[in-house]
Amino acid sequence: MVRLDYLNLTYKEIGEVGLDIKDIEIFAKKAYEMMLKKPYKELDFLNLHNQDLLKIKQLSSKAKDYDYFIILGIGGSALGPKVILEALSPFHNLRRKPKVFVYDNVDPVTFKNIIEIVDLKRTLINVISKSGTTVETLASFLILWKMIRDKKLNVRQHFVFTTDPEKGSLRVLANEYGIPTLEIPKNIVGRYSVLSPVGVFLAEIIGTESESLLEGAKDISEKALNDDLSENSMAIFASCTYLMDTMKGRRILVFLPYSDRLKSLSEWFCQLWAESLGKEGKGPTPYPSLGTTDQHSQLQLWMEGPEDKVILFVCIENHNSQEEIPQEFHNIEGLKYLGGHTLSELINIEQLATEMALTMSKKPNFKLVIPRLNAYYLGQLFQFLQISTAMTGFLYNVNPFNQPGVELGKRLTYGAMGRRGFEEEAEKIKKYLRRKI
Ligand code: PA5
Repeated sequence: MVRLDYLNLTYKEIGEVGLDIKDIEIFAKKAYEMMLKKPYKELDFLNLHNQDLLKIKQLSSKAKDYDYFIILGIGGSALGPKVILEALSPFHNLRRKPKVFVYDNVDPVTFKNIIEIVDLKRTLINVISKSGTTVETLASFLILWKMIRDKKLNVRQHFVFTTDPEKGSLRVLANEYGIPTLEIPKNIVGRYSVLSPVGVFLAEIIGTESESLLEGAKDISEKALNDDLSENSMAIFASCTYLMDTMKGRRILVFLPYSDRLKSLSEWFCQLWAESLGKEGKGPTPYPSLGTTDQHSQLQLWMEGPEDKVILFVCIENHNSQEEIPQEFHNIEGLKYLGGHTLSELINIEQLATEMALTMSKKPNFKLVIPRLNAYYLGQLFQFLQISTAMTGFLYNVNPFNQPGVELGKRLTYGAMGRRGFEEEAEKIKKYLRRKI
């Protein structure tokens, strides 16, 4: 199982800046009790292991006949699939088909590049949007829709929509044009949707057994409802991060996996954490990072900068590689000592050394450890972090499933783009652009 080690957050290890075990336990119990009441219907993400995979498997087996697979989506509708791709099929496009592109921004140059690479005749486009209303996703969809039609290709053969079972423009189009669809269950919110068809469809396409992903998540979900707190690390995680902020003024949470394959997990986690917790003036700031790379970029700041951070390591015990560093240049000590060690050993030793350096300097840090990185443990990591985030939200007394703060920017965009009903916002934009010093 994914293991949480939080010793380096405690008074015992780091003195005054650390937490009292009793406080950790009190708030962990509180987080657990709040979870038990299941206060939000959005907690349905705990049950995604029960979903029916038949349609996903049918569509994914067809998708394997294509040479290119493009995902259009943003936020929770793109970051999860990106993690699955990078973690479970690294360098995918250099090795396997269909080549996968996650177009999750409206950057026109990225779009142009993708279009230049793919042959639309051999491309399947998965438009992912829970609401079916997201401007970035719909804009790129419209362009591709027209391109497919201009080429006299059958839209049913080139699009799959992953969207709400009933609502939104994509659902309307799917019904009208008979586009194959996958359903994101009603109560599942974007950033908690990676284990729904949003991520599972891609997992199947790249050859991952999604059952393993879901099995990992299931094993973690069961732990979240365990009243034995020594078994319920998610409640401990929530308690520690909450107390580090509210009691110790540690307002920044650095997410630091030691694996290139988990680089996207940093992005995914930061979105989950920021959008779930940042409300009502509360919420620690997540900070995406990567080991060992950021030891040569950020570590200086963590060691000697402001006392406002907690570092969360994510470690893989066995990297499944025995690449050995050769014993060369016996007469140069600066090279000789490396000989005979493996790269796996080195990356884990560097993590340990960084952890110890932080601890010896009384910098709060904790770690999540998985034995290996495969679909099963990735499923565990996703679910662990989703549940921990929701529980942390309960402690802050905020709703971890909404995002009211993003609405204003969306409305202003609609106004500027001339959408009916947003004339007032359009006026505000004009006024704003006329401002002078
Ligand atoms: O977590 C969320 O709800 C958001 O980040 C959404 O995923 C994002 O805004 C995209 O929304 P949608 O899937 O409706 O297009």
